[in-house]
Amino acid sequence: MERVRKGMTGSIEEYILAHIDDEPELLREMQREAHVMLLHPAMVSGHLQGRLLKMLVQMIRPGRVLEIGTYTGYSALSIAEGLENDAELHTIEIDEEMEDMICHNLSRSPFGKRITLHIGDAVEIIPCFGDEYFDMVFIDANKREYWSVYESTLPKIKEGGFLLADNTLWHGKVLEESESNDWQTKGIKEFNDKLAGDDRVEKVILPLRDGLTLIRKKSKGWIRTDNRK
Ligand SMILES: C[S@@+](CC[C@H](N)C(=O)[O-])C[C@H]1O[C@@H](n2cnc3c(N)ncnc32)[C@H](O)[C@@H]1O
Repeated sequence: MERVRKGMTGSIEEYILAHIDDEPELLREMQREAHVMLLHPAMVSGHLQGRLLKMLVQMIRPGRVLEIGTYTGYSALSIAEGLENDAELHTIEIDEEMEDMICHNLSRSPFGKRITLHIGDAVEIIPCFGDEYFDMVFIDANKREYWSVYESTLPKIKEGGFLLADNTLWHGKVLEESESNDWQTKGIKEFNDKLAGDDRVEKVILPLRDGLTLIRKKSKGWIRTDNRK
């Protein structure tokens, strides 16, 4: 919650949450469990971002989505909720100790069957996917690796496809001089600076929580992965 309050005041946040779709009961329970059982529960997307992810998926209507950084599976289930029946989400999590909790959470949801979990380092797993494979990618993993993960996923995204990068304002630290050992802030700044000059894509930063960047790979025309009308 600390991260949220730095981005918007508590009362505005409460107002927003009272005027958007309710958080599904399972996701609410997952949030509660994350606060009790995990060291960094603030890493979970949460009510507002979860509903936004679902809405964006309903707008983009991707056939295949890739998520990098599963944690508890909260954002994965939010994305999966917005997917059409025959669409799928692949999600990658490096921390094998999260596997049991993720599988348990996915098994509790009717949308879990749309999700394939890959346990391992995204840097090693991403090259194993074929080219031009995904319509949408959500990057929410190690901030130090954002640019290299972006570079390795961009060829996997179809022309006209979308990439979402979370935490790109990084608690406002992007405005400050970085400490020499603050590699996460340096990683986010490198990502934002390089992305700003990247002509292969269109981009916009939403000041939601601590920043969500929406990126669209430029195209001659959007062709869905499965060629559905
Ligand atoms: C911010 S949390 C993800 C939160 C989740 N997307 C959500 O919104 O509910 C970041 C996760 O990325 C994982 N991670 C970090 N580096 C990774 C890598 N190289 N490959 C895959 N997962 C990674 C971490 O273990 C952590 O669980």
